[in-house]
Amino acid sequence: MMKSRLCDLVGIKYPIIQAGMGPFSNNNLCVAAANAGVLGLLSTSGLFNKTDQPWIYEDFIKTAEASMDDDMATVLEKVIKRTYLLVKDKGGIFGINVMVSVEAGDNARVMIDTAIRLREENPDMKNNFKVIFTSAGDPVGWKDKIKNAGFTWMHVVPSVKGALRCKKAGVDVIVASGHEGGFHTSWEPVHSMILLPAVVEAVSDEKTLVCGAGGFCDGKTLAAALVMGADGAQMGTRFLATQESDFHQVWKEGVVAAGDRGTLVARGFVGPARWLKTPRSEEHAVNTLKKSPGVYLGVPDDYTTMDLSLIDFEVESMQAIFAGNKEKALMAAGEAAQRISDMPKVNDLVQSMVKEAESILRDIPKKYLD
Ligand SMILES: Cc1cc2nc3c(=O)[nH]c(=O)nc-3n(C[C@H](O)[C@H](O)[C@H](O)COP(=O)(O)O)c2cc1C
Repeated sequence: MMKSRLCDLVGIKYPIIQAGMGPFSNNNLCVAAANAGVLGLLSTSGLFNKTDQPWIYEDFIKTAEASMDDDMATVLEKVIKRTYLLVKDKGGIFGINVMVSVEAGDNARVMIDTAIRLREENPDMKNNFKVIFTSAGDPVGWKDKIKNAGFTWMHVVPSVKGALRCKKAGVDVIVASGHEGGFHTSWEPVHSMILLPAVVEAVSDEKTLVCGAGGFCDGKTLAAALVMGADGAQMGTRFLATQESDFHQVWKEGVVAAGDRGTLVARGFVGPARWLKTPRSEEHAVNTLKKSPGVYLGVPDDYTTMDLSLIDFEVESMQAIFAGNKEKALMAAGEAAQRISDMPKVNDLVQSMVKEAESILRDIPKKYLD
């Protein structure tokens, strides 16, 4: 049996976090992940642009038992209640992923306030709806709201500096996300092999847990995270390519087909982002080099200084994927896509990863110690 402090802290069977991922919902993926014994995360970013990108909202509500007339707080309320009903009998544990970047504006507050209110109104939910996972912004400022409400608070960072900021904020679980990871990645890249042990050394203690993210996708990489001192691993790209994943089939198949050196980095909504390598993303990378060179130089820009045609291109490409238009789509994914060649059911995936990790961990003393 695997065990880790992450399992003890939130009550999951296996030390794995199914990452929050947009722009599609994670409404069915989260249920499947939670019921498979890992931490399931609902994504909320798909609710942020009802007016500008209604096709995202329209797709999101399909698996939320909600309607286009609902505002984003109401949709989130319906999703959380639906998830709770679908996981409670199996003891599934879940949370919400909320981007708190400057670009996310007040939306993040609406999401977090809704989550807090729901648990206050439905105290039974506390047994299953346990986590608020913030990302893409500064954690300091969210502490009182999230911790006073009794949630376990997780936050993702790309650097030791960010991890120290989380420690200051009182984050319970710091997720160190290496440059291999899918979609938004840091301006100054550091990969998991360096970042994860560095963050463990800097901040892990009896009150602060650390998990790895970026490149973790099977039993080998899960075992490696634990050996590097982590309490668990978050996986995005791996869970995207599963039967239950809510992402478009074209995107899921793109991950499975990616192969050797199958991703590249180019501009995303909130900075550099990792995409599946396609003619469309190669065009975006060429444009990024011209219009947002900081992506490749480690020099941040923002909407006030950059050429916004890059964002328009991304919006158009996101609309294309919702229509299943493979040629015009941009599809985010981590380097792990190179190591993914199947689209299993979530429970089968979790079982095979855990079996492989357990076998590796058991063999370590036999193989490497006298
Ligand atoms: C398609 C896709 C969408 C993502 N969207 C989000 C998001 O909305 N919020 C977030 O915090 N992280 C997001 N991520 C990052 C994941 O949460 C996770 O940290 C990352 O996928 C880990 O690396 P991996 O892809 O190698 O597993 C996304 C990742 C992918 C692949």
